[in-house]
Amino acid sequence: MTSFPKDFLWGGATAAYQFEGAWNEDGRGPAVRDFRTVGTPKKRRQVTYIDKDGHPGMMPAIRGLNLPDGARYAILDNCYYPNHIAVDFYHRYKEDIALLAELGFKVFRMSISWSRLFPKGDEELPNSKGIEFYREVFKELRKYKIEPLVTLWHFDTPVYLEEKYGGWNNRKTIQFFDHYAETCFKEFKGLVRYWITFNEINNAVGMLDMYGSDATDKAYQEAYNQLHYQFLASAHAVKKGHEIDKENVIGCMICGIPHYPLTCDPNDIIATRYRWEKGIFYSGDVQCKGEYPSFSKRLWNEHQVTVDITDQDLIDLKEGVVDMYTFSYYMSNIVTTHEIKDMVAGNIANGERNPYLDYSEWGWANDPKGLRYFLEVIYDRYHLPVMITENGLGAVDKMENDGTIHDDYRIQYMKNHILEMKKAIDHGVNLIGYTMWGCIDLISGGTGQMSKRYGVIYVDRDDEGNGTLNRFKKDSFYWYKKVIETNGENL
Ligand code: BG6
Repeated sequence: MTSFPKDFLWGGATAAYQFEGAWNEDGRGPAVRDFRTVGTPKKRRQVTYIDKDGHPGMMPAIRGLNLPDGARYAILDNCYYPNHIAVDFYHRYKEDIALLAELGFKVFRMSISWSRLFPKGDEELPNSKGIEFYREVFKELRKYKIEPLVTLWHFDTPVYLEEKYGGWNNRKTIQFFDHYAETCFKEFKGLVRYWITFNEINNAVGMLDMYGSDATDKAYQEAYNQLHYQFLASAHAVKKGHEIDKENVIGCMICGIPHYPLTCDPNDIIATRYRWEKGIFYSGDVQCKGEYPSFSKRLWNEHQVTVDITDQDLIDLKEGVVDMYTFSYYMSNIVTTHEIKDMVAGNIANGERNPYLDYSEWGWANDPKGLRYFLEVIYDRYHLPVMITENGLGAVDKMENDGTIHDDYRIQYMKNHILEMKKAIDHGVNLIGYTMWGCIDLISGGTGQMSKRYGVIYVDRDDEGNGTLNRFKKDSFYWYKKVIETNGENL
């Protein structure tokens, strides 16, 4: 079997709003995700606000649902917002990066919080404290020869842009993002080479399908249009990033969910194909090929959508084709046109339960082969270097009295996925890196829980915000260190 390439990028991944904390320190402005309360798998996170008459309110955090007319995002006294402190990377980055270095990381994926650099989003000059923070972090990583892989947008648009301009519903937001991206490329030139423009960009539309067919045509209209503006912002960033430093390698990032048909009924086969197109290929094609795929018209017509595309936009998309395809991989889903008898219950998990797979406590299918399947499909379609920038098992960990954490289930999960990566490389896929999700435990994006842990490093914090925030090495820490040391040979 082929080994991993010599310079394979082993590492881990995080996102600012789930990891950094310090949500209102050193000039950082609020971002939309700061207004989400803690949830559970059964109880959705809530977005809190003050309505137009000054009354506090909350609504479920669901894509496609907007605040009531005239309402403004607000922090309410009786709510807990786990992202505000998160796991405090902001104050602990030196200790954390030393642990990553001990693991032997070659790469560390993190995101920049847009509102830490531009508190409102439309300023001319960036917040110097924000620039300073990220520069120090990147230098610290470089000290240990760890390549930063930096996401520019991980769902955290500044609230001011949302309230004043309507966020991604407004073409103007592209300009603000262009300025933010250019600032990052200039300020961090020489420190950062690997970039991702938008995290899981395809979720804008994909999530509407995942949460059932109750999303309205209006929600799809908004989503497709927002997506178009994000494609443009991404394309501009790629172009600018290359102009500023030709060494920059810039990728798209797709929520990678392979879809399988439940039956061999041709209707199921076609529905599955269409789900791939809508959920996966639509975004990938625009970002990797620089143009909308032929099936776009069918997708738009399905929901009576008209996308605001100009002739210049088409040129811009062509000029901003990404250098690599990066994606997250957690699970596969089943598609059927038949009645669903046993529905899976997890957030972003969708459709009929797959009897051949087992499921995590959060209802996500454990499907290592699906990772190989996805890798092979994608590489064959785009012929671009591929990186898995999120993968892992969200599970409850128990810390023993002596501070050890025995997470053999996580080791097994990662091992099985890495074995499939090996096979994909053997089959010809140019896989260049793997950053497991939440290498240091962080706040779950979906539920806001701390108890949904992905890390090889444990953080002492619970779902109510209690705990020392101290870090502890899990069994998987020592195992992953060995994997990296032996370049994937010792699993
Ligand atoms: C991806 C996101 O969708 O999945 C991350 O990019 C998120 O932000 C991750 O944390 C895992 O999801 P969750 O809900 O388990 O945190």
